[in-house]
Amino acid sequence: MTLHLVDDHDAATACVTTLVSSAIRATPSLVLGLPTGRTPMGLYRALRTAGLDWSRVRTFNLDEFATLTPDHPGSFRAFMDEHLFRHVNLAPASIGFLRGDAADDAAECARYEVAIAAAGGIDLLLVGLGGNGHIGFNEPGESLRAETHVVPLHESTRRANAERFGGDWRAVPASALTMGMRQVLSARRVVMMATGASKAEAVAAMLDGPLTTRCPASWLQAHPDATFVLDRAAVSARRAG
Ligand code: F6R
Repeated sequence: MTLHLVDDHDAATACVTTLVSSAIRATPSLVLGLPTGRTPMGLYRALRTAGLDWSRVRTFNLDEFATLTPDHPGSFRAFMDEHLFRHVNLAPASIGFLRGDAADDAAECARYEVAIAAAGGIDLLLVGLGGNGHIGFNEPGESLRAETHVVPLHESTRRANAERFGGDWRAVPASALTMGMRQVLSARRVVMMATGASKAEAVAAMLDGPLTTRCPASWLQAHPDATFVLDRAAVSARRAG
């Protein structure tokens, strides 16, 4: 486990930007796993202007809201188009995404597993951290699922995503399709970025607690090549602080 502790969100963004840029330069055909959310917005802004060649990169996003079409303004696909995809020379056919509006969710999840396997698996998976310890949309609970699956979202997760739905958390879909823990743990490298005091309890549980389904991100402790990029506020609840 590698820990980069930096002063603030901007420094965390700069650190992850360097990691991703170096990985794309070293492996132009990189298979990259991507999150959405507030945390990587600055990262995507920086990657847009980093002078990278995306022409051979392939991407797979972690998750998508159930029921939404890709062009729905609240969809994660629309988020990625807006923040990254439309600004770089990534081939549309190289963008892997779960379809929230699939007629058969189980078949869509199975299709995604096959697509990731056909790409040779994920080389570098970027992940964010839910305030409740979720990773992708693997929510805390009694159990976790290995495979890509449909998951009911916790109210706290819907509230955290309300901004793109006119501020109304009830307008946020009640379920999502997400990569499961197998894709997370079998990515060749995982980079977790978490910043701010709202993530502090989850960061403490992720790094210092037991591996537990109550904190899905705690399973990253078991990953052989996990890098954590955290700012001071995010580590403020760690006992060793
Ligand atoms: C989103 C995802 C989520 C977010 C997490 C943090 O694709 O997989 O796990 O990474 O909810 O979201 P922010 O960055 O908005 O705090």
